[in-house]
Amino acid sequence: MSKEFKRYLITSALPYANGPLHIGHIAGVYVPADIYARYLRMCGRDVFFVGGSDEHGVPITIKAREAGCSPQDIVDKYHNIIKKSMEGLGISFDVYSRTTSKTHHKTASDFFEKLYKEGKFIERESEQYYDPQAETFLADRYIQGTCPKCGAQGAYGDQCEKCGCTLSPEELLDPHSRLSGATPIKKKTKHWYLPLDQYEGWLREWILEGHKEWKPNVYGQCKSWLDGGLQPRAVSRDLDWGVPVPVEGAEGKVLYVWFDAPIGYISNTIEALPDEWEKWWKDSDTKLVHFIGKDNIVFHCIVFPSMLKAHGGYILPENVPSNEFLNLEGDKISTSRNWAVWAHEYLEDFPGGADVLRYVLTANAPETKDNDFSWKDFQTRNNSELVAIYGNFVNRAVVLTHKYFAGRVPAQGSLTDLDREVLGQIPALREAIADNLEHYHFREALREAMNLARVGNKYLTETEPWKVAKTDLDRTATILNISLQICAAAAIAFAPFIPFSSERLAKMLQLKPEDFKWSNIRENILPEGHQLGEAELLFAKVEDSVIEAQLGRLARIKAENEAKAAAQAASQTPVEPQKDEVTFDQFAQMDIRVAKVLAAERVPKTDKLLKLSIDTGIDKRTIVSGIAQYYSPEEMVGRRICMLANLQPRTIRGIESHGMILMAKAPDGRLTLVSPVSETPEGSTIG
Ligand code: MF3
Ligand code: ZN
Repeated sequence: MSKEFKRYLITSALPYANGPLHIGHIAGVYVPADIYARYLRMCGRDVFFVGGSDEHGVPITIKAREAGCSPQDIVDKYHNIIKKSMEGLGISFDVYSRTTSKTHHKTASDFFEKLYKEGKFIERESEQYYDPQAETFLADRYIQGTCPKCGAQGAYGDQCEKCGCTLSPEELLDPHSRLSGATPIKKKTKHWYLPLDQYEGWLREWILEGHKEWKPNVYGQCKSWLDGGLQPRAVSRDLDWGVPVPVEGAEGKVLYVWFDAPIGYISNTIEALPDEWEKWWKDSDTKLVHFIGKDNIVFHCIVFPSMLKAHGGYILPENVPSNEFLNLEGDKISTSRNWAVWAHEYLEDFPGGADVLRYVLTANAPETKDNDFSWKDFQTRNNSELVAIYGNFVNRAVVLTHKYFAGRVPAQGSLTDLDREVLGQIPALREAIADNLEHYHFREALREAMNLARVGNKYLTETEPWKVAKTDLDRTATILNISLQICAAAAIAFAPFIPFSSERLAKMLQLKPEDFKWSNIRENILPEGHQLGEAELLFAKVEDSVIEAQLGRLARIKAENEAKAAAQAASQTPVEPQKDEVTFDQFAQMDIRVAKVLAAERVPKTDKLLKLSIDTGIDKRTIVSGIAQYYSPEEMVGRRICMLANLQPRTIRGIESHGMILMAKAPDGRLTLVSPVSETPEGSTIG
C-alpha cells in the first residue's frame, strides 16, 4: 500500500539564467511538472509548485565577461526572459524566484553554516590552477588549450567542444588562462567537502531498497553511481560570484553552485510562505517530487538528499521523475550553437499557441528515451489530432446544438447500447488518465485524453445527427446530449495538459471554474436545458508556409554554424609569412580603387573563372577573376568591390582582363571579397 500524503511539494529544476528557455527544458521538466501540479490541484489536493532561476555558477561569469557586463546584468536579463516564457506557456508555479535573492543567500548560507559547525564537512587542501597575472584561481572553464584527444585548439579545462570528450585541465596541452592569456600555475587552496562516501550505505538502503518504483533510467543511474563508490565532493569554489562561504578566512570563496541551487527550492518556498514553509519541507505528510532532466539525476538523488540528511529535519524526495533529452530535427539541442526552438520566439511566432506546443511536447515527451522534435511532426499533430479530432468534434457538437436546440443541452432520451458504451468510456478514461498521471506517464495520459475526443468524434460521425434531425429530433437530442457530455469531460480531462484550450472550451460550454474537478469527469456533467455559449474554433490549422519559415530559420542557423566551424578550422592553419619590404613609392604606384560590378557570367569550360564587367568610375571594363567557386554571377552583380586598376592587361582564356579584384585569402585557401565597410562611390581611391 502506498502512503497517503496530505500535501504535494513539487519542484522543477531551476533553469540557469545564462540563456533563454528552449523546448528541451519545456518538454523535459516544466510541462510535465505543470501537468502533475494542475492534475493534483483538480483532485483537490494541497499543492505547492516551486520554480525559480539558478543564477550562480561559472558559465554566467564567462557570459558576463564576454558581453562586457556584470553577472548580475546577465541573470537579470535571462531571469526576466525565462519568467515571461514560463508565464506564456502557462506553467502554474506557486512561486518563481531566483537564487540571487536575499532570502536565498541567507538560507543557503545558514544551511552551510549549520553543517560546518556540526562538523559535517571535511576540509582539504588541494592544488588548483591559478592565474598569476590576474591573481585569481581559475575554474576549469577558464582554462583553454589544445585537446589531447583530437588536437583542436580552444578546448576547455572540462571539455573539448570539438570532439565532445570530458577533460581535466591537467590534460590540456599548452594550457592558458582565458582571463589574461597567462600560463596557469598550481597553487594551494582550501575547500570544504561533503563526504558522500559516509552516506553511501544509507543511500543504498534508501534508494536501492526503498525506491524500486523510481523510473528505470533514474534508478539505474543511481545504482551505477552507488556501485562505483562515492567520493567526497567539494561544496565550495574559488570564485567571486555566488553565496559567500560563511566561514572566517574564506574570503574569495563561494558555495559551489550545485550546493546552493537545490537549497533554492527551500528558499523560494520560504519567500512565498514565510509562516508556513516548514510544514511543506519538514512534515512527513508532505510528498516531495523533483522534476528534472537526466543530467541532474545525481544531484537530486544523491547529493541533495545527502545534504538534507546531513542537515536533518527535512523530508526527502518521494520520487524524482527525470526525463531523457529532446533533440531538434535530429540534432542535439545546443544553446551555444543556437540549435533550439526558443520559448520566447515560439510564443511570438505562434500567438495563442502555447497549448499546441504543450500538446506536441507531451505527446512526444522523451520519457523513456531521447526523442526528436520536428516541425513536420508539430504540424501533423496539430492538424490531424488537435484540429481534426478534438477541435472538429467539439465544434460539430456545439454548432449542431445551436442549430437544432437553440444552444441548450437537449434531453437524453432512451439510450442505445452504443450510447451506453460511449458514455461508459468517460469514467474509464478518467481512471486511465489518472493512473498514468500518478505514475508520471504523461505521454500515455495525454493519449488517453485524446481518446476521449476520439470516442466523441467517432460517435458523431457514426450517428450522423445532422441526418437524423430530418426525421427524428428526439434521437438527435440524445446524440447531442451524449456528445456534449463528452465535450465537457474532455474540457476537464485536457485541462492539466492544455489549460488555455480547456478555458476556451469552458466558455463555449459555460462551465464554471468550480466545475474543473477531476471527479467531475463523469457521465452526466451538463444538465438538460443548460445554455451553451457561442461556438468558436478551438484550434487552427498550421499551414505549410509556417512550417517552411521555421525550417528556413533552422537551415540558416545550420549554415552559419558550418561557416563558423570552417573559419575556425581555417584559423588553425599556419598563416603565410610576410613578403619582402617595398618602398612607399612602390606602394604609391598601385592604383587601387573602389568599383562596381555591372554584370557577371561564368567563363565557359572553367570552374574557377568569372568574367565581370565593372564600372571603375573612370571607365567601364572587363576583368576575369578566379572567384567562381566562392561567388555566383548573381551574387556579384551590383556589388561594390576593390580592385587594382593599373595592372597590365592580360589575356585569360581568350578574354582580355584589365585589372584585378582584391580578395582576402584565408590560410586554407578560401577567398572572400574585400570591400569598403560603408557606402563609397565607384572611383574612390584606396591607399
Ligand atoms: N540549473 C541546473 C540545470 O539547468 C538545474 C539546477 S536544479 C537545482 O541543469 F536543484 F539545483 F536547482
Ligand atoms: Zn577534442
